[in-house]
Amino acid sequence: MNWLARAILRLYPAAWRERYGHEVGDLVSRRRLRALDLVDLLGGALDARLHPQMVPSLQLAVGAPAPTALTPMRPARPAYGAIATMNPGVLSRRSFMRRMLGAGIGLLSIEFLGGTLAFLWPPPAEGIGVEHRVGTIREILAVSPDWARGTPYEFRPANAFLINVPAAKAMALGDALEVADPGAGEILALWRKCPHLGCMIPTACETRSRFQCYCHQSTYNIVGEKLELGPAPRGMDRFPVRIGVDGAVFVDTREVISGPPKGVQTFVDPHPPGEGCA
Ligand code: FES
Repeated sequence: MNWLARAILRLYPAAWRERYGHEVGDLVSRRRLRALDLVDLLGGALDARLHPQMVPSLQLAVGAPAPTALTPMRPARPAYGAIATMNPGVLSRRSFMRRMLGAGIGLLSIEFLGGTLAFLWPPPAEGIGVEHRVGTIREILAVSPDWARGTPYEFRPANAFLINVPAAKAMALGDALEVADPGAGEILALWRKCPHLGCMIPTACETRSRFQCYCHQSTYNIVGEKLELGPAPRGMDRFPVRIGVDGAVFVDTREVISGPPKGVQTFVDPHPPGEGCA
């Protein structure tokens, strides 16, 4: 059988024989071959002829394992194939570095793109730093009819109280006055951020028509001027107000007007100046 196996080996391509013929020939001569081995050998020769661009793996050539058959000569695919220099499942250091570099550049690009879009995007419609359209006087009164009689209108998008000044003063004095069409100069937008340490000032108490901060009891009259009680250094800060061509009231939170200094009052209500809302 061995002479037949050697004859079959001659059927392999010359390049193959030049590289592996010696080792495989040794292997063949040292084994006791069976008919099935010859069939395997013949199949390997046919395969090598059909795929001349491929070479058997080194493991095949030395044919180490399988003492019972010439399995190295007919390895399961991809035994015939380019000899890999490394396990394809293992990531080389260079590939790893390349991937990390690519990921870093990708992240930087996304960050740059996000920053550019944020810069170009129109400003938010709510919060401080934009001009807010509150609505026409009619629209405000539809939401808060008592505003015409002096009750402050809480305009949350600007975090401000809108004060109808003549009506509010009358209310604080205990008079009944309805002002349904105040001009821009008669409307105040008081920022609810307390000028002491920034607490949110609650709505005016009904008992005395005053604002009183919960945090340290700083007290302000109905037009936001500082009264004696509390540590705040000045009256409530305010925003510019204008009336648009369509009659709408606008509050501009891009500009903050500092509240009047402590002790400066243009309006005095009938309650003791050193007391709060209680
Ligand atoms: S934060 Fe308002 S009184 Fe201190």
